[in-house]
Amino acid sequence: MHLPDPAPLYADHLRTLTARADTALTRAGRDHLVIPSGRLHYQVFDDRDYPFAVNPHFKHWLPLTRVPDSWIVYTPGKRPQLIFNQPRDYWHVVPAAPSGWWVEHFDIHIIREPEQALALLPADPARCAVLGEANSTLGGFAPDNPAAVIDHLHWHRSFKTPYEIALMRHAQVPAVRAHRAAEAAFRAGASEFEIHMTYCAAAQQDANELPYGNIIALNENGAVLHYTELDKQRPANPRSFLIDAGASAWGYAADITRTYAADGHAEFQALIAAVDAAQQQLCAQVTAGFDYRQLHLDAHLALAGILKDFDIINVSAEAALATGVSNAFFPHGIGHPIGAQVHDVAGFAQGEHGGFIERPAGQPYLRMTRVLQPGMVVTIEPGLYFIDMLLEDLRAAGQADAVNWDRVAFFKPYGGIRIEDEVLCTADQADNLTRPIFAESKE
Ligand code: GLY
Ligand code: MN
Ligand code: MN
Repeated sequence: MHLPDPAPLYADHLRTLTARADTALTRAGRDHLVIPSGRLHYQVFDDRDYPFAVNPHFKHWLPLTRVPDSWIVYTPGKRPQLIFNQPRDYWHVVPAAPSGWWVEHFDIHIIREPEQALALLPADPARCAVLGEANSTLGGFAPDNPAAVIDHLHWHRSFKTPYEIALMRHAQVPAVRAHRAAEAAFRAGASEFEIHMTYCAAAQQDANELPYGNIIALNENGAVLHYTELDKQRPANPRSFLIDAGASAWGYAADITRTYAADGHAEFQALIAAVDAAQQQLCAQVTAGFDYRQLHLDAHLALAGILKDFDIINVSAEAALATGVSNAFFPHGIGHPIGAQVHDVAGFAQGEHGGFIERPAGQPYLRMTRVLQPGMVVTIEPGLYFIDMLLEDLRAAGQADAVNWDRVAFFKPYGGIRIEDEVLCTADQADNLTRPIFAESKE
C-alpha cells in the first residue's frame, strides 16, 4: 500500500483552515482566532499530571500533540503565528525545536515560561475568539468558544482535507499491525493483559498516545461494550476474542474492531462471518447523499436478519426493529465521525450555523445523524451481543417469545461480535481506509 506523504498536502490544508477561520471570525465579529494547545491537568491533592490531551483545534492546524502552554494565533490576511513553549526544565523532556513540513508556514516565537505568551498574544483579548478549555486561561485570554465560530469550524471539520485523510491512512498502519499481533497472541492462549501489552508493543504506542483505551475482551467479556478491565488470568478455555483498538498518527485516530473465534468453534465463526459480510455491505453504502440515520436502521435490519438466519430470534427483521428486539442485540450506534478526535465533532449538526438533527425514534445511542458528503470519514461498526441485562429487559417488555433462548444460551459464552472500519465518503465509491491495510498485512 502506497501511503500518501502528508508534507506536500499541508499548504492546501492550511489554506482551507484559514479560509474557514476568515468566515468564522467575520460571523462572530472578532479579529483574531486564538487557540491554546492546553495545559496539564493535575490529580487532586497531588503533583501527578494526567496524560496531556491536546486541544483538537490545535492539532487540526498543526501536527503537534505534546506541546502544553503553546498558542496558535491567526489574524485574517496575516501569516499564522505559533507561540511555542519550550520550557527551561530539567525534570522532563521538553518539546524538540520546531521541525517538519509545517514550519515554513508559521511565524514561530519560542517562549520559556507560559506567561511569556502574554506579550505575544493580541493586545485586546476582547477582539479574539479563544477556543479551548477553561484551564487554558492566561491573563485576559479565557477561552470563550463563541458559538458562531465553533459551529462554523466544527461543521467544516467534518470535511477532511486530503492532508487529514493522509494522516488517517497512516494511523491505520500501526493499528492493523498491532491487531495482527493481538490475534496471534489470542491464538497462543494469552491473557487479556498480555494481549494488550502485545498490542501496544506492536503499535509502538501506549495509553498516552492511543486514541482511546483498548477493549481487549475474551469470551463473555465481549458482551461489555466498553470492556477495559484487562484480566491478567489466562483463560482456561479461550473461545472468542473481541478487540476494539486503534492508533494515532500526528494526533489523528484509527478506531478498529475485529472479532475472532478460537479453532473448533465453527458456529460462532459463521456468525462472525455473517456480521463481517453485513459490515462490508454497510461500508459500501457510505456514499454521497446517503443518510447516516438510514445506514443505522439498515444495520438493524441486516443484523436482525442474521439473528433470524441463525435461529436466535424467530421474528422478521422488520418486526425485530419495530418492537425493539434488535436493540437488545445491537444496542449502540452504527458508528460516528472520526478524525482529530476518535468521536469527532458535529455528528448532529444541521449546518454551519449549528442546529441539531434528532436521532431516529428509539435509537438513543446513534452518534451521527447527518447526510454523508464527500470528505467525511465515519466508522461503520455493527455488532451483535448477548447481554443479560438487555435480554432481561426484553422479557420484561413481553418480547420473550421473539427469542430462542436455547440459542442465546449457546452463544452467550462468546460474549459478542463487533467489526469496525473507517470509511471515507467520496464523490464516487466508498473508500475503506482500514481493509486494504489488513489485506496487505496478510502477505
Ligand atoms: N472504540 C470506541 C468506538 O468504537 O466508538
Ligand atoms: Mn471502536
Ligand atoms: Mn468507533
